[in-house]
Amino acid sequence: MNKHDFGNDFVWGVSTAAYQIEGAVDVDGKGPSIWDHFSSHKGKIKNGEDARTACGFYYRYAEDLRLMKTMHIRDYRFSISWSRIFPKGIDEINPAGILFYNRVIDECIRLEITPWVTLYHWDLPQALEDLGGWTNRAVLDWFEIFAATCIEHFGDRVKHWMVLNEPVVFTGAGYFFGKHAPGRWGIRNYLPAVHHATLAMGRIGRLIRKMQPDARIGTTFSHSPLVPISLKSRHIKAVKRADAVVNRLFIEPILGMGYPMEDVKALRAIKQYMLPGDETSLAFDFDFIGIQTYTREVIQYSLLMPYVWANIVEPKRRGIEKTTLMNWEIYPPSIYDAIKRIGSYPGIPDLYITENGAAFADRLEEGSVADEERKQYLQDHIAQVLEAKKAGYPVKGYFVWTFTDNFEWAEGFSPRFGLVYVDFKTQERTIKDSGKWYAHFIQSQEDKSKS
Ligand code: GCO
Repeated sequence: MNKHDFGNDFVWGVSTAAYQIEGAVDVDGKGPSIWDHFSSHKGKIKNGEDARTACGFYYRYAEDLRLMKTMHIRDYRFSISWSRIFPKGIDEINPAGILFYNRVIDECIRLEITPWVTLYHWDLPQALEDLGGWTNRAVLDWFEIFAATCIEHFGDRVKHWMVLNEPVVFTGAGYFFGKHAPGRWGIRNYLPAVHHATLAMGRIGRLIRKMQPDARIGTTFSHSPLVPISLKSRHIKAVKRADAVVNRLFIEPILGMGYPMEDVKALRAIKQYMLPGDETSLAFDFDFIGIQTYTREVIQYSLLMPYVWANIVEPKRRGIEKTTLMNWEIYPPSIYDAIKRIGSYPGIPDLYITENGAAFADRLEEGSVADEERKQYLQDHIAQVLEAKKAGYPVKGYFVWTFTDNFEWAEGFSPRFGLVYVDFKTQERTIKDSGKWYAHFIQSQEDKSKS
């Protein structure tokens, strides 16, 4: 890979999410979020862990941003904790919450790091979940209040906004499988949550465009290329159904194509949550789409998974020994496929890889972390991004998931995804070898742009 091929304006960044790094969950007026509530129940988070302290970013943001700067990272994607701004979801604003994000944003600007802000990265205020959360259509009004407040206070300095982080995951894991907060399950929770999340993208997108004409507005989608275990027609059909839910469900209505109801019968029941006019207000012309992709999945027909009748065949069962700690196959061409697939929709805007990365069992030894596997993972995936760019897909940037090791939701702290190692007892940070490599790689890009 020739590192200069990306061009001078290609964006190289890192991504994080408020709940995974900040800690200080009940400090300075912050209200509880669904993740605080969920984690307080036994058995929900691996090893009984919780994010009360996490990486202590709330206290260490200045230090972390300086570290980012030393690593030549100029673009930082992070999210705003809704219940830090509105402890009860709506009504009273918490000035300490506004102050905190003002400080983070100001420090970014001072260090010449461009902030890319996600409005909703899964941490709904618990007070709103008590009223039904994403299953209640009023979430659109609540979200509008929160978003307008963020634009009003931060929009003078934040020019890149993302409305949602991976709606597939927070509706699926949170409202269908009950494995993530708020831990609800079943199709009756899932479908209204899906419809309201889809509507929220357009509604909040339009709000930002009205309030802040100079904003670049995006939203992010997870995407995992799916392949059938064999060419038997039942597996091919299973892929088609799984693909409709995993990869098409949210992006197609946004692009004006409607929900992919014809492929999964159960999705037709979304209609009962639709009001007149919804059909047209689903679409919104985002300035950019964020793609978050980690692996591919191999799919087989299965009776065990209702509605889609398809299951993931785990890598070990396919004879693949080497996976990441999340048990995800390492398959670099999947990022090319994801860009190609999304980049092939007609009228697609700019694309950014807003998350890509890998968890391994890193060890800090004599002051360093030799994470050769992560370095290789990043290099191989970035090489595929370059191929996609060369093929003409409008991919404009790449953000590594993630900056520091952090709280990996229901998996707790063991999957370490960071470029920077965190000793969670002392909060000491150590740049891993992959982080050193990424820093060097970005710097070489900068040198090129100066010459
Ligand atoms: C995601 C989330 C991240 C995860 C990451 C690794 O979008 O799924 O943005 O919060 O930590 O994807 O699983």
